[in-house]
Amino acid sequence: MATDAYDLVVIGSGPGGYVAAIRAAQLGMRVACIEKMPTLGGTCLNVGCIPSKALLDSSELYHQAVAGLGVHGITTTGVTLDLPAMMARKDKVVKLGTSGLGMLFKKNKIDWIRGAARFVDACRVVVRDGENEQTLTGGRMLIATGSEPSPLASLPYDGERIVGSTEALVLPKVPNRLLVIGAGAIGLELGSVWLRLGAHVTVIEFLDRIVPMMDHQMGVQLQKALQKQGMVFQLQTAATGAVRTADGVKVTLESKGKSSEVEADVVLVAVGRQPNVEGLGAREIGVAFDERNRIVVNERFETSVAGVFAIGDVIPGPMLAHKAEEEGMAVVEMMAGHAGHVNYGAIPNVVYTWPELASVGLTEEEAAQQAIPLAIGSCPFQANARARCLGETAGSVKILADARTDRIVGVHVLGPRASDLIAEAVVAMEFGASAEDIARSVHAHPTLPEALKEAALAVGKRAVHL
Ligand code: NAI
Repeated sequence: MATDAYDLVVIGSGPGGYVAAIRAAQLGMRVACIEKMPTLGGTCLNVGCIPSKALLDSSELYHQAVAGLGVHGITTTGVTLDLPAMMARKDKVVKLGTSGLGMLFKKNKIDWIRGAARFVDACRVVVRDGENEQTLTGGRMLIATGSEPSPLASLPYDGERIVGSTEALVLPKVPNRLLVIGAGAIGLELGSVWLRLGAHVTVIEFLDRIVPMMDHQMGVQLQKALQKQGMVFQLQTAATGAVRTADGVKVTLESKGKSSEVEADVVLVAVGRQPNVEGLGAREIGVAFDERNRIVVNERFETSVAGVFAIGDVIPGPMLAHKAEEEGMAVVEMMAGHAGHVNYGAIPNVVYTWPELASVGLTEEEAAQQAIPLAIGSCPFQANARARCLGETAGSVKILADARTDRIVGVHVLGPRASDLIAEAVVAMEFGASAEDIARSVHAHPTLPEALKEAALAVGKRAVHL
């Protein structure tokens, strides 16, 4: 049993943990980062954001090659899918990221400790890796253990036919019928991957709308776009049970008091995620949790136990990699006496379907709840020259400004590369911009960001191209 003393011990190497570890090392701290997975990067890099985006990009190319190029005067015949090659490329993308992180840890002299951590007290953890155990001592401890898929009692995961997001990234063949439970980001993104590769995809959603956390109008537009691609939706429907059949799963659905059955080859359960705190021993040393099993922290990200901090998916707030990263930076900067800060009002949220849906700030419904009078400007991508050149005209940009001050309170983009377009809106909101600020900024022509400028002009009722 070895003992070592660090200024900071970070538990978890996802986007929250690794960013915190690197920034802390830059600030002169002696840092250890404990990770129980065989590679660094956590859910995001290993089994989340990155492999899913690699498959989304590959499957979009496949879809374009099969059905999207004719409009450009390009005829394709004999396009075939090599699924193992697509999966191997995805694995390579992930490996580049995880090995890159290993090099960054070396460069910053961060000790990567392999194994699962369990608190002994506020400044000691035992790390178990198979038969080996070691105790680490830290002046400060940072919990960045992330989250895991929430189970659905009526459809327990079996890892083969009833799967979570991790298994849905490695299906050995394209399922003929994929049933997705939950129309959130995971369900729609992974549903899109398999739809493009040839599966019949049906999405079951408990509520009366898809992507319930996003602006309602934009969600309705996204649903229409996905339906056009062949995705089938059953809203206000719950999955209440499942039985394995010879070649799949028979799922019982309940909708408005009526029950029905549907058969699928694979069922993807994507009904949310829950904090990953099992076996951590945090509760045992006195760390307080809220009613949703999230760790309670103050504005400095310190838990109820002095010297023990927490960031990312284990604390309240959106479960997003970039939110965890910002918290990772802020928490260690504050530890080092700097002014760390996270602006929770300007965190972008993206659903990487095609078209993509991206948003920042308030939705129309949230603005109404807060009694903020709105001036709204929209620009459909039909009115954007570059979108027409690309042949990608589905969707629109919507800017919500406070009618009293013109200050931007929310921006919603459904369209090509909305994930990139939203960055301009985030920076604008970070600087407290008005719609007029965007309207008066020169945007290169012809580009997709001109749709943001046009929507900003529309806020002031002076759109030119509409
Ligand atoms: P989610 O919470 O975003 O969506 C789950 C959906 O399932 C909701 O619409 C909910 O109403 C529905 N649902 C719940 N129980 C149900 C039931 N029994 N039957 C039918 N529908 C039911 O969860 P998701 O998509 O699993 O994502 C988990 C977390 O990971 C979220 O916080 C999400 O933001 C994050 N994430 C973000 C991504 C991104 O930024 N692109 C990608 C993947 C995940």
